[in-house]
Amino acid sequence: MTTSQSPAHDVVLIVDFGSQVTQLIARRVREAGVYSEIVPFDKSAAALARLKPRAIILSGGPASVTEAGSPRAPVALFEAGVPVLGICYGEQLMCAQLGGEVQPGTTAEFGRAFIDVVEPCALFDGLWQPGQREQVWMSHGDRVTRLPPGFRAVAVSEGAPFAAIADDARHFYGVQFHPEVVHTPHGAQLLANFIHRVAGIAGTWSMAAFRAAAVERIRTQVGSGRVICGLSGGVDSSVAAVLIHEAIGDQLTCVFVDTGLMRAGEGDEVVRLFRQEYNIPLVHHDASARFLGALEGVSDPEQKRKIIGKTFIDVFEAEAKAIGGADFLAQGTLYPDVIESVSYTGGPSVTIKSHHNVGGLPERMNMKLVEPLRELFKDEVRVLGRELGLPAHFVGRHPFPGPGLAIRIPGAITAEKLEILRKADTIYLEEIRNAGLYDAIWQAFAVLLPVRSVGVMGDGRTYDHVLALRAVTSTDGMTADFYPFPMEILGRMATRIINEVKGINRVTYDITSKPPGTIEWE
Ligand code: XMP
Repeated sequence: MTTSQSPAHDVVLIVDFGSQVTQLIARRVREAGVYSEIVPFDKSAAALARLKPRAIILSGGPASVTEAGSPRAPVALFEAGVPVLGICYGEQLMCAQLGGEVQPGTTAEFGRAFIDVVEPCALFDGLWQPGQREQVWMSHGDRVTRLPPGFRAVAVSEGAPFAAIADDARHFYGVQFHPEVVHTPHGAQLLANFIHRVAGIAGTWSMAAFRAAAVERIRTQVGSGRVICGLSGGVDSSVAAVLIHEAIGDQLTCVFVDTGLMRAGEGDEVVRLFRQEYNIPLVHHDASARFLGALEGVSDPEQKRKIIGKTFIDVFEAEAKAIGGADFLAQGTLYPDVIESVSYTGGPSVTIKSHHNVGGLPERMNMKLVEPLRELFKDEVRVLGRELGLPAHFVGRHPFPGPGLAIRIPGAITAEKLEILRKADTIYLEEIRNAGLYDAIWQAFAVLLPVRSVGVMGDGRTYDHVLALRAVTSTDGMTADFYPFPMEILGRMATRIINEVKGINRVTYDITSKPPGTIEWE
């Protein structure tokens, strides 16, 4: 899925059956110092041949193995001679496919549950002893009712007589609970036991090793070709660019398209960083007038996104042609964007927002893609950025969406509103930094509302804009909680913004989580 050659390091193959938490398995495995890749179950046989994993983990999933047509694991996975761990649906699947029996459960278990450890097991080494009761997180309706030959039960629960099972000879293990979620307090250690003790994988994967392997891969892929990279000012595209530059030097050209929708000082910082500190060729194209012109009078969020995406591609294409074209387009695509989701309904998922990237360009310009971060999670990209020597404050920057401030000004966008928002946003982030909270927050920003309210300042009446402040915590942007600022900090922020930014006379704080809200307002 992600690389054309088998990697130089040990791999754990995670076979996805559609669980909501499959990505967490990959994270836990990597936290144990071992590289992992997630593949959909129907592509797992090919991945097995390509990656030659040292161990396999079968994820949970929403289907029932008792239903006809529910997904199965390719037999090759059980014949590869490597340890296999089945989680939830994965455990049931192992049992159903290896000669045991699964039935719809009479006692479904969802959420916090307890298991009783009944026998020692390599998964529990140094962790759980027979006779102990342990907290785990369950989410299942079906249950295993008969074990396949060779297996024994090592833990039981009220709803699952076979809450954990082991076939020591073949190194096959199954757990009905989810060790990958934090609600199973010892889950990460249990997974580490599977990797280190059962599979004997050392745990030497590190970002330095990734960097060296990625540089080699980029050189092999690109050869003597030319690469063009669209820098957005964000962490992902910057880290991708620095890594590619390390691999192929001046075969890389970066193009920074200033949409005029950036925050204060953003463009300047990127241009300075690349030109002065890294000596990476950078084309700086100020297209703000063009973007503002195209957006004039447009209020609909989706239309805004589409206009920005299209304008971006037009400008980028012109710049690419101006430098004589390129064979490859580099993008900072991350792992959560590329994992192919497993759909049982066959229907497309609902588009909540059209995210803008440079999609469409590669076909138009006949370019191939270079995406060296495709295997990494956001926080891993930050580690790689530090490994590459990018300044800590730059690497730690909050995510910033491609359409920029345009989606933080509901309604039509004007240069005046952008200016007001920039000033307010700068103060807001300054106060967050002063309070030492920047790194505790996933993303913080201000939204200029298309609402005016009456106020009183000095002796006069004001009738000005309302500003909403937003700050959220999150691990991947998929879900988020509003950040619980202390009241006095919120008060200080509001006072400063109203006093210092002409055009705003009221400040509110957004306390919506995601879901049901999204992080951005549009
Ligand atoms: P939402 O608003 O959908 O955002 O909860 C989730 C995360 O994605 C960012 N975001 C974008 N990033 N292009 C991007 O590069 C986009 O069009 C875009 N829209 C939202 C958002 O800032 C948050 O971090």
